[in-house]
Amino acid sequence: MSQDEQEIKTNEKERRDKVLSLADELKSDELADGFRVVVTGKGGVGKTTLTALLAQFFAKDKYQVLAVDEDPQQNLAFSLGFPEEKADEILPVSKNIDYVEEKTGARPGESWGAMMNLNPDVSDVVNRFGMEIKDRINLLVIGSVIQAATGCLCPENALLDSIVGYIKLRDDEVILMDTQAGVEHFGRSLAEGFSNAVIITEPSFNAVQVALHSGQLADQLGIENIHLVVNKVRGEKDQAKVMERVGDKKELFDQIHYLPFDEEVYLNEPDVAPLLEKDTPYVQAVRELYDALL
Ligand SMILES: Nc1ncnc2c1ncn2[C@@H]1O[C@H](COP(=O)(O)OP(=O)(O)OP(=O)(O)O)[C@@H](O)[C@H]1O
Ligand SMILES: [Mg+2]
Repeated sequence: MSQDEQEIKTNEKERRDKVLSLADELKSDELADGFRVVVTGKGGVGKTTLTALLAQFFAKDKYQVLAVDEDPQQNLAFSLGFPEEKADEILPVSKNIDYVEEKTGARPGESWGAMMNLNPDVSDVVNRFGMEIKDRINLLVIGSVIQAATGCLCPENALLDSIVGYIKLRDDEVILMDTQAGVEHFGRSLAEGFSNAVIITEPSFNAVQVALHSGQLADQLGIENIHLVVNKVRGEKDQAKVMERVGDKKELFDQIHYLPFDEEVYLNEPDVAPLLEKDTPYVQAVRELYDALL
């Protein structure tokens, strides 16, 4: 191995060690309490739309919202009203870690000193890794660091899990996390420390299967309040069909909510703000869900 290669290897190891120790440092505090909601479910059931709308409700009620986008598609920003033309400006944390490293340090390794001083509170995390979307809504985009096939426990993942699960929240701060379709995120410790799980399904067989699996995993993780949200309901037959499938597993859920199919939702996507203005049946039902969450 050449001297250069050796140096790169040493730097990389140093970097990994420092990221891991930063992650551990955050975790050395007790699991922070506070209001943390993970929104999960099969592809296309309405996770991102609901997360964005809930974020608007919280912000209206003077909460400071940290919206977390765990989906590598990174589309929560647009549902929150971030302009599509500025998509390039969305910097996921996975990239941001390197950016912070470059920005703060002259010499490799040493730069991590700055990162090590991360305060586990929202404002510091937002300043370093997040972006301001609008008044009281900040966004943290996680980016594609998940290597599902290997169950990768790479240092960045550990750091992200710590940031999301362990930063301290003030009483007026909430975390809302939109996730990638499926249940993989439950395999990481990403949803650890969350007080609420909102598990969305639509009336289809497959979506309900994923929701039931998610309900079990959320339960195993010890998430206190597990909500089942049946979205895109077109009538009582849909409700009955889902409940028949849910059967005994109903016990997994603390509450069950129904949101109507509402064409205004997809006609107005991606930004949910105009939808909120129109106060459609979907919006009204989400407001009831919001009240129930609180
Ligand atoms: N209640 C509803 N009525 C009608 N359309 C809806 C409803 N909820 C969501 N939609 C539409 O369904 C589509 C998927 O919604 P959304 O992107 O929020 O789902 P998702 O679960 O985040 O999807 P993905 O798994 O791809 O991230 C969008 O076109 C959205 O506008
Ligand atoms: Mg989505």
